Amino acid sequence: MSAAEVTFAKIHKSFGGAVAVRELDLAIRAGEFISLLGPSGCGKTTSLRMLAGLEFPTSGTISIGGRVVNDIAPGKRDVAMVFQSYALYPHMTVGENIAYPLKKQGLARAEREAQVRRIAEMLKLEALLTRKPRQLSGGQQQRVALGRALVRSPKVFLLDEPLSNLDAKLRAHMRAELIELHRSLGRTFVYVTHDQLEAMTMSDRIAVMEGGELRQFAPPREVYDRPANLFVAGFIGTPPMNILHGNFADGRFHHPAMTIPFRPAGTPTKVALGVRPEDVLLGQGPHRAIVRVVEPTGHETIVMLDAGGSPLTARASAESGLRAGEVVPFDLRPDRLHLFDATTTLRLDAREEVTP
Ligand SMILES: Nc1ncnc2c1ncn2[C@@H]1O[C@H](COP(=O)(O)OP(=O)(O)OP(=O)(O)O)[C@@H](O)[C@H]1O
Ligand SMILES: [Mg+2]
Repeated sequence: MSAAEVTFAKIHKSFGGAVAVRELDLAIRAGEFISLLGPSGCGKTTSLRMLAGLEFPTSGTISIGGRVVNDIAPGKRDVAMVFQSYALYPHMTVGENIAYPLKKQGLARAEREAQVRRIAEMLKLEALLTRKPRQLSGGQQQRVALGRALVRSPKVFLLDEPLSNLDAKLRAHMRAELIELHRSLGRTFVYVTHDQLEAMTMSDRIAVMEGGELRQFAPPREVYDRPANLFVAGFIGTPPMNILHGNFADGRFHHPAMTIPFRPAGTPTKVALGVRPEDVLLGQGPHRAIVRVVEPTGHETIVMLDAGGSPLTARASAESGLRAGEVVPFDLRPDRLHLFDATTTLRLDAREEVTP
């Protein structure tokens, strides 16, 4: 069993005049699990289809295992793709569906059956092999679609929102199964999703895309703790990071609700301060805000506030006792502040450079 590295080098894709993917550079390590994450229309599927050979780049090169594959047919790339609509053959049994790629490869019947048994065991489909797809639940159909991709033992797995048709409980279950599958197979996985929870929980690294462009490519923790720009800052995290627009002068960030000293010099005048809801500490501190909405979720309370005319969201304990209309003192965790250039939208500070 072996994995392959995957490289996108200056990949550009236009449909007619419309740019779908712009200057995409992505070096994926052999055996890595990466997610392409971003809002609808940002170019995730197009990127995956170019890797699969179902779409041709307008310019740039794609390599798999060090070999440029631009002119290599999809069937010769040693990749397997699981589509969002898993499209099983309805007239075939589960076993026949899984065996189909092997039959096309011309494998003998005994060998096919051995492979199907191996895959069925891995995906816990043994008891379902003689059923037809319509006799299966959504999650079971999903596992069959995975099995059909797995049976070929490709070097690279391409998955396009494979869990989007499942209910929340099954999705959580399948996330765990995919993590386990990746670990046991050691193959390269390229996973497309607009669900940040999926990307955060499964990936070694996340490629965050917006409008056809790559905005950050980093491990989940880094994308969360050190977003490279305002887009990533606002896209990752639920509720999203608070963004407070203000001015930087005399070594201080100035906002109607607060003045915060920062160490680094040469900061541009127009800046945006980012702070996650869990890093807004309610109840004490030098700043004041008005409580607008209190949303108890069970184990915690999401509090929406007005801080000097800017919306501010905080996570509070379930027993916060806060009420709408109340003025509440607050502080921001000084080691968890993010500073961005409001003009370029790029991150300015290493967070450890920030002083209260
Ligand atoms: N065959 C096509 N012809 C013309 N435009 C296309 C084609 N395929 C995709 N596009 C456009 O390219 C852009 C990127 O599409 P893509 O399907 O890659 O987005 P996506 O990130 O997968 O979105 P979603 O989350 O909705 O699946 C979109 O603006 C889309 O309309
Ligand atoms: Mg898509």
